[in-house]
Amino acid sequence: MSDIPFKNPGWAGNTGEFELSEEEVRGADFVGDRPADGGHASGAGTMPYMLAHKEPEAPLFDGAYKDRLEKILSRYPTKQAALLPALGLAQEIRGHVSPASMDEVADALELSSAYVRGVATFYTMYNKRPVGRHLVQVCTNISCNLAGADEVVDAFLKYTDTELGETSEDGNFTVIEAECLAACGFPTCVQINSRYFENVTPTEVPKICEHLKAEGE
Ligand code: FES
Repeated sequence: MSDIPFKNPGWAGNTGEFELSEEEVRGADFVGDRPADGGHASGAGTMPYMLAHKEPEAPLFDGAYKDRLEKILSRYPTKQAALLPALGLAQEIRGHVSPASMDEVADALELSSAYVRGVATFYTMYNKRPVGRHLVQVCTNISCNLAGADEVVDAFLKYTDTELGETSEDGNFTVIEAECLAACGFPTCVQINSRYFENVTPTEVPKICEHLKAEGE
């Protein structure tokens, strides 16, 4: 693992060199045999959003986040065109996009609340209600399904003692099913916040959850 500042490929106006180590972006290590320093089929773990730390009451578009919004806006011909990344930024800050957050985004982009709500509620990747520190999205699409995704979902629900979409009592986990995560060659694929865990089997689930909890302490 190198100490060189991590080069982010750019997301939501946040492009360039950061004072983040690769460990800070990817997590301390990967569960199982997956190498922490590469060889991972997915780029998802390189995106510094949907972090475990969520602040539902944090101000939107203030300070550094105001600069981020400005950068986002500079990339688009109109404010309306920047709606998706602006909603993504709101979710990055607060962990979910509530009706109040949608209104704030509408104000910032000079759009109607109805328009922003129509867009935000269309996309499943915007969480419309609070989720746990770790949002566990198990792909149950065809390839993963054939490889036993339903059993993986059951294992996560059992470990977290929740129903689908419910947040565990300790606030750590919300488990949902997801459509294809584009890692069909590595079933069952599970996206937890912005990290992919591939070839997940039910027996690995407790280890993954314990690892995530320990990482957040
Ligand atoms: S079917 Fe699961 S990642 Fe495509």
